[in-house]
Amino acid sequence: MDTISPAALSSGWTPDSWRARPIRQVPSYPNPDKLAAMEARLARFPPLVFAGEARNLKAHLARAARGQAFVLQGGDCAESFGDFTANIIRDTFRVLLQMSVVLTFGGAMPVVKLGRMAGQFAKPRSSETESQGGVTLPSYRGDIINGPEFSEAARIPDPSRMEFAYFQSAGTLNLLRAFASGGYADLHEVHRWNLDFVEKSPLAAKYRELSSRIDETLGFMAACGLTSADTPQIRETDFYTSHEALLLPYEQALTRIDSTSGDHYACSAHFLWIGDRTRQPDGAHVEFMRGIKNPIGIKVGPSLGVDELLRLMDLLDPQNEPGRLTLISRMGAAKVGEALPPLLRAVKRAGRQPVWLCDAMHGNGITTAAKVKTRRFDDILAELRGFFDAHEAEGTIAGGAHLEMTGRNVTECVGGARGLSEDDLGARYETFCDPRLNAEQSLELAFYLAEELKSRRASKAAA
Ligand code: PEP
Ligand code: CO
Repeated sequence: MDTISPAALSSGWTPDSWRARPIRQVPSYPNPDKLAAMEARLARFPPLVFAGEARNLKAHLARAARGQAFVLQGGDCAESFGDFTANIIRDTFRVLLQMSVVLTFGGAMPVVKLGRMAGQFAKPRSSETESQGGVTLPSYRGDIINGPEFSEAARIPDPSRMEFAYFQSAGTLNLLRAFASGGYADLHEVHRWNLDFVEKSPLAAKYRELSSRIDETLGFMAACGLTSADTPQIRETDFYTSHEALLLPYEQALTRIDSTSGDHYACSAHFLWIGDRTRQPDGAHVEFMRGIKNPIGIKVGPSLGVDELLRLMDLLDPQNEPGRLTLISRMGAAKVGEALPPLLRAVKRAGRQPVWLCDAMHGNGITTAAKVKTRRFDDILAELRGFFDAHEAEGTIAGGAHLEMTGRNVTECVGGARGLSEDDLGARYETFCDPRLNAEQSLELAFYLAEELKSRRASKAAA
C-alpha cells in the first residue's frame, strides 16, 4: 500500500507534514526511540474504523447541517484505563440512546449519535504543571500520555500507553457495535427505560405527557405492523465514535489510505475534532486535520474571531463539502448571546453551511469555595437556550448538542431536578478531568431540548 495518495501530494499534505509546523500541548517523551518504535508498531495494527463508516457519518452530518437531523455528541471528558468496564460503556451508551429517543420525538427528525468514546484519552491542559503541597509536577495529560496519580513516575509521558489506548478503544468499540446492532438498542427497550426514569423523576408530571405520546406512537406503529422483528430501524441503531485529535503521533500512526477512494482517513475514530487550544491556522493540528477525509470538528471559543474562523474553514474544507465541518461553539452562558451571532452571520455570508453544535460544558466551568471543579445545570441550559436564540435570529440551523456526561450516578455538576448542591459534590465525584452530567441530569436536559425543538418548530410553522 502506498503511504501517500496522489491527491494529498498535490496539496502539499502528507500524513507527517504536521511535524514541520509549530505545535502546542505536546508531551515531552523522554525517549524518542521508544516513541518512534511505538508509532511504527501502531502503524501496522488494523484500523479501528472503516472509511465507509466515516463517509456514512459525513452524509448524516450533511443532513444535520441542513436541519434534517439533530446531532447528539456526548461522553466522558476523558476516558480512563482504570474505568474500562462493560457496565460503564453500557450505561453511557444507554443514556445517549434514551436521550436520542426523546429528541427524535421532540425534534421529529433523526438523531445522529456520536459518542465521545472509544478513544477520548488525550487532554489539553491550561497549565504545564500542577502543584500540590509545595510539590510541582508535570500536568496529567490523559491516560494515553501519562498517569493521573500525583507522583513523578506517573507523570512521565510513556509511549506504551498508546498501545493500551488502542486496545481499550478496540474493546469499547466492539461492545458499542454489539449493543447497536445486537438488540440492546431496540426502541421499545429504550422507551421502557425512559418510562422508568420519568416515574422516578421529581419532574414526573412534566415528562409524563411527552413519554405517553411516545408510548402511543410506538403502539400505533406496532399496530401498523412495524415491529422490531421485521424493522431494523426499530431494532438497531447507528452509533459513531469521536475524540479530540490531540496526540498527533497516535493519529498519524492510525491514518490509512482507503482502498475504495484512494483518500486518507484517520482510522482511530469516525469523527475527530480540533480543540480550542490547538486550532492555530498555521499549527500542527490544523495541518494534520487538513489532509484526512473524515468529518471533523473545530471547537469555537470566545477568542476565535470571524476572520480566523473563515480562514480555518478555507484550510480545512476548501471544497465546501457537505458534512465535512462541524463547528462546536463553546462560549459559556454569559458570552454566547454576544459572541456567537457575528460568527453565524459571517459563516452564512461566506456561503458555508457547517453543522453548528453547542458544547454547553466547556465555557461554563466554575470552582467552588472548597476548590472543586463543577458546572451549574442552569448555566448549561442557559447556554443551549442562547445558542438556539442566536440561530433563530440569524436564520441559521442549530444542529445539535455536545455534552460531557456519563451513565453513572455521579455528583459532579450542581443543579438539575434533584437540586444537587455544592455540598453533595463529595458523594460521588469520579471524573479524571471535567465534571460530567449524570444520567438523570442528561435525560432531564434531553427533555428540555425536545421541548425547545418542538416549540421552535411550531413557531417557524406559524410564521
Ligand atoms: C474537551 O472537549 O474536552 C475540551 C478540552 O474542550 P475545549 O478544547 O473546547 O476546551
Ligand atoms: Co472536558
